[in-house]
Amino acid sequence: ATSHEDLRAIVSDHMHLEGPMLPMLHAIQADFGYIPEDAISVIADMLNMTRAEVYGVVTFYHDFRKAPAGRHVVRICRAEACQSVGGTALSEAALARLGIGWGGTTANGAVTVEPVYCLGLCACGPAAMVDGKVVGRLDAARLDALLAEAGA
Ligand code: FES
Repeated sequence: ATSHEDLRAIVSDHMHLEGPMLPMLHAIQADFGYIPEDAISVIADMLNMTRAEVYGVVTFYHDFRKAPAGRHVVRICRAEACQSVGGTALSEAALARLGIGWGGTTANGAVTVEPVYCLGLCACGPAAMVDGKVVGRLDAARLDALLAEAGA
């Protein structure tokens, strides 16, 4: 099946739900790893909404990627407790060194850096999650080591 057909199938599967759009988007991201451009049109079409409305939802939620991720995903906590112990400066310095913004992927395709809003590790921030594994008490050296290990 083409990805367009796959998209229509996923969207159809969720049509019966009340408030179907978020479940649709989650299912599409689980399947494709991101929300392909085509998904916006398919959802708009099937839910009888405008593309702008669907696009607005996709951009509102930080969970949805608009491009495929790199081989490793590093999520850095941007919620308050981590910010207050230096998380902001730490992440901004790392992004600047990698030459990417939030949600960006390094040119070699190795690492995507995404924001996350609390990992439940507030007492030992700044915190991050590397491919699903949480890490606390980050400092510049540890974050650099994690990124280097991931191939950034
Ligand atoms: Fe960062 Fe809770 S605020 S883990």
